Amino acid sequence: NNRVKIKALLASDETGHEVTVMGWVRSLRNNQFIALNDGSTNNNLQVVIELGQLDEATFKRITRGASIRVTGEVVPSLGQGQKVEVKAKQLDILGDCDAEKFPLQPKKQSLEFMREVAHLRFRTNTFGAIFRVRHSLAFAIHNFFNQQGFVYLHTPIITSSDAEGAGEMFRVTTLPATNPPLNEQGGVDFTEDFFGKSTNLTVSGQLEGELGAMAFSDIYTFGPTFRAENSNTTRHLAEFWMVEPEMAFYDLEDNMNLAEQFIKYIIQYAMDHNREDLEFLAQRLADEEKQLPQDKRSELGLIEKLEFVLNNGFERITYTEAIDILLNSSAYKKKKFQYEVKWGVDMQSEHERYLVEKHFKKPVIVTNYPKDIKSFYMRQNDDGKTVAAMDILAPGIGEIVGGSQREERLELLEKRMKDLNIPTEEMSWYLDTRRYGSVPHAGFGLGFERIVLFVTGMTNIRDVIPFARTPKNCEF
Ligand code: 4AD
Ligand code: MG
Repeated sequence: NNRVKIKALLASDETGHEVTVMGWVRSLRNNQFIALNDGSTNNNLQVVIELGQLDEATFKRITRGASIRVTGEVVPSLGQGQKVEVKAKQLDILGDCDAEKFPLQPKKQSLEFMREVAHLRFRTNTFGAIFRVRHSLAFAIHNFFNQQGFVYLHTPIITSSDAEGAGEMFRVTTLPATNPPLNEQGGVDFTEDFFGKSTNLTVSGQLEGELGAMAFSDIYTFGPTFRAENSNTTRHLAEFWMVEPEMAFYDLEDNMNLAEQFIKYIIQYAMDHNREDLEFLAQRLADEEKQLPQDKRSELGLIEKLEFVLNNGFERITYTEAIDILLNSSAYKKKKFQYEVKWGVDMQSEHERYLVEKHFKKPVIVTNYPKDIKSFYMRQNDDGKTVAAMDILAPGIGEIVGGSQREERLELLEKRMKDLNIPTEEMSWYLDTRRYGSVPHAGFGLGFERIVLFVTGMTNIRDVIPFARTPKNCEF
């Protein structure tokens, strides 16, 4: 079996040997040239069939979308942009495709339409490129942490705690939806449920990650997380993937340094391994932006933007400085912000994007947020007002990373949890890390789809996850 993938075949100029290729027909030109794609690259392989070589019936079945197997000789190509092509000796139809009905038509189709045929969109150039880049970024994440000696810790999907304390969880239950058992107060009696208590899909693996860091020093998680926040935006998913490293003996500055190094590493990895796909996506973005008025277009192309990020340090400012910048901005003075700006408010995406896109024009790490807008586990600063938090904001996206140094002092953590009505007895397992050999530690969470958006230049998060889950939308 001489089966080869098209990417490997096109990468070499070796000719004269026989190969077998399999894939889906993208087009048939002049009844002679088949553009064949197998998903390994956006570059189609030209398969040449000689006139009269196939019987009429088989020939008619070579339609856009059909799957075929071809065995033939690799020969030098006269066509543009490819060194070799395959001269078919044997061609078999594996699966027919009615080209009239096939939703993927040769003309350019909108991303909105593609979301409606999401089950087929992998077979287009745009989504082929996006999901190969996504794959590489995922691979790079494991590479990076593995090289740094981090242990990949698998944290649970079903949990009984709310890591972010934001109450945005999907409940997991086996109780019947109608007439569930009730307790004396008339509420649902979860002691009758599968786990004997109320459980949810995890919003973050961090708390369990901290348990790991208290033994292995450095761990990371990388898995799906779930949030029932009803934000129907281009940046939010109900199911998204998060990368969460957690490091013992790290303070906030170590945390920022690692996060910046990590983000640059994975971008560099994609630049090194997915150049063609990134160039394709850069062109797609440039074409799309041509439709926009001049002032709405990006100053840099996609590749230049990524290079710029790789070659420049991220800006580092405190939350207090960020608010000052916003208050002194012309956007604020001209009342261009929809949401309020004052010390203590949670910055909205319009504010984050002003900082990165208009003011600094590069990624920004914002630190030391007011404690009241951040999670219970963040380390309290001496000023009594702020915590050692850090968010990384990226141009075009807004927040891509949220992290902090953790509160390692038992009394302060317990007090904070009590103030926020977080049950300390049920979370005794978590507090044990502070009871038995507590150490300063820190970590962060990178929203995987957000970095995929950034690297691919796409603008809607539904387009960078294979199967998007958003409010009122759970196909498949
Ligand atoms: O800022 P968040 O909520 O932080 C945490 O969950 C921490 N436990 C992380 C940690 O310190 N280990 O979420 C982290 C990141 C955000 O910065 C954002 O990129 C992404 O996760 N994110 C989402 N991505 C897509 N859809 C959503 N609904 C998201 N919510 C958060
Ligand atoms: Mg956050």
